[in-house]
Amino acid sequence: MKKLMKFSTNTLTMFFVWLFAVIAPWLFYCCRIGHVYVDIVLFHGFCQTLLWIMMLSAVAVSVLAFLRLRVAPYNDDETMPLPFKAACVAFFALTAVFTLVWVISLGVMGVESTPVAGKMLLETLPFGTAVVVAGGLFLFLPALKNRKVRAAVAACVITAGFFAVIGSLYPLSTYEFVSAPMVIDTGEGYSVVFATTDTGTGYLEYSHDGKDYKIYDTEDGRKVNSRIHSFFVPYEHLDNNTYRVGATRVIDELSYGGTNGKTIVSGDYAFKRNSGEVQRILCVSDWHTRIEKAEKVIAMGGSYDAVILLGDAAAGLQFEEEAADYIVRFGGDVSDGVIPVIYTRGNHETRGAYATELSDALGLDSFYHEVVCGDYRFIVLDSVEDKPDDHPEYGGMADYSAYRAGMIEWLEGLSPDSSKHTMIVCHDREICIEEDLRERAFAAFEKLDAAFLFSGHSHDCELILTESLPIYTDGGFKNGKYIASEITLSPTGISVYGWGADGEVQSGSFEWRTL
Ligand SMILES: [Fe+2]
Repeated sequence: MKKLMKFSTNTLTMFFVWLFAVIAPWLFYCCRIGHVYVDIVLFHGFCQTLLWIMMLSAVAVSVLAFLRLRVAPYNDDETMPLPFKAACVAFFALTAVFTLVWVISLGVMGVESTPVAGKMLLETLPFGTAVVVAGGLFLFLPALKNRKVRAAVAACVITAGFFAVIGSLYPLSTYEFVSAPMVIDTGEGYSVVFATTDTGTGYLEYSHDGKDYKIYDTEDGRKVNSRIHSFFVPYEHLDNNTYRVGATRVIDELSYGGTNGKTIVSGDYAFKRNSGEVQRILCVSDWHTRIEKAEKVIAMGGSYDAVILLGDAAAGLQFEEEAADYIVRFGGDVSDGVIPVIYTRGNHETRGAYATELSDALGLDSFYHEVVCGDYRFIVLDSVEDKPDDHPEYGGMADYSAYRAGMIEWLEGLSPDSSKHTMIVCHDREICIEEDLRERAFAAFEKLDAAFLFSGHSHDCELILTESLPIYTDGGFKNGKYIASEITLSPTGISVYGWGADGEVQSGSFEWRTL
C-alpha cells in the first residue's frame, strides 16, 4: 500500500492522472451517440450522471494536483497527510476506471460510428486543447511563481471550462418565438412560417371541418431541426380559421439518441382573409435590418387586409439567423400572423450561403408565381441581382441571367384574365438587367393588361408615370429614416399612400379605366 501511495503521489503520476481525469469526460461526451443504449439497459440519465461524476472527478484531481505541487504540507513527501495520500490513490483508481469507460465506449461504437466520435472530438478540439494546455501549464509548470498570475490563470481556466461544459450540455440562451408567424400566400395555398430563437422542431395545429390537424415540419418523415419552420396549408383550411404553432428545442441531435429541451406553444391566431372588393394592403421594402425603425413608422398606419413584402431584409443571407431575424420576424410582426403576406425576394436575399435555402425555408416552390385574391391578381416576379453575374460581389456564385430568362418565359406563358385587375410585384422595377429581357417583360405586362407595378429597391418613395404602366416604388430605409406605403384597391381604382415618421411622402389615386 505504501508503494501504491508513493506511486500515486509522485509528480509525474499526478500529471498523467490529471491529464486522463480531464480528458475522460470530454472523450466520453464525444462518444454520446452510444449513451442511449446504456441508458435503455440501465436507466434514463445514467450516462449524463456518469458524465457529471467524471467532471467533478476532474475538478477534484485538479485540486489534489494543486495541493501536491503548491501547498504545504501536501507538497512534501515527509509531511504529506495520510488522508491526502489515500485520496490520491482513490482518484488514481477512479481515473483508470473512467479511462476504461471511454475506451470501451469507443470500442462499443464500432467501426461505423467511431469516426462520428472523432468528428465530434474535432469540433471541440480547439477549445478543449486550450483548456487542457492552460490547466496543465498552470498546475505543473513551476514558472508561474507569481500568486496573482496563478490565481488569474486559474480563474480564467475554471470560468472558461465551466461555461464551455454547461454551454455544450445545456443551452444558456432563452428559447422563444421571434415573432408571430408569417402566413405567405404562395399562389397554391398558404405557407405558415415561424422562427424561434434557437434550433428545434416545429408544428402547426388547427381544426377544420371537424378534423384536428397537427402537422410537424418534416423532411422525408424526419422532423427538421432548425430555427425556421414552414407548413403548407390549403386556403380553405386557414381562411377565417384559428391556428397555433409550437416548437421543441433540440439540444443535441445525434445518429442515436439525442436531447430535447423546452417546448413552447403560441396563443391562437385568428386568420382573416379579405377577398372583398375593397382591400387595404401594407407595402414595405428595403428595411435592411432596421426592423424597429420600420415598425415605428408602420404603426402610424391603420389596419390591413394583407401585406406585400418587397424584399431586402439584410445585407445578405450568410446564416439562417439572418432569414429568421430579418425576414420571418419582420413578416410576422407586421402581419401579426393573422393576414396573408405576399413575399417578394430582394437582391440582398440572393447573397450568402443561406440564399439557396430560403425558398425551402419559406415553403415557396418558386420566388416567381401569381397570387389571386378576389378580383385582384398579383404577378410576383424575382428580379434577383442588379449587376452582371460575374460581378465580384457575388463571389462566382451567380447564374441569375439564365434564371431571369426562365422567369420571363414563364411570364410570357401566362394568359390575360379580364375578370381580374392585374398588378405586378417585383423588388426592382427594372425587372431584368438584360435589355432584351426587360423589353419582353414589359411587353408581357401589356399583353396581361397589367395595371400597375409595385416595387422597392430604390429606397425612394416615387410614382413613375413615364413607362408603359404606372410604377410605384414604396420607399424603405434611407438616411436614417423609413418610409412605408399602403395600397387601397377598390372596384373603381387604386390609391397609393407613402409615409414616414414626419407624415405623408407620396400619394396618388388612379381609376382602373384610366390606367
Ligand atoms: Fe435592393
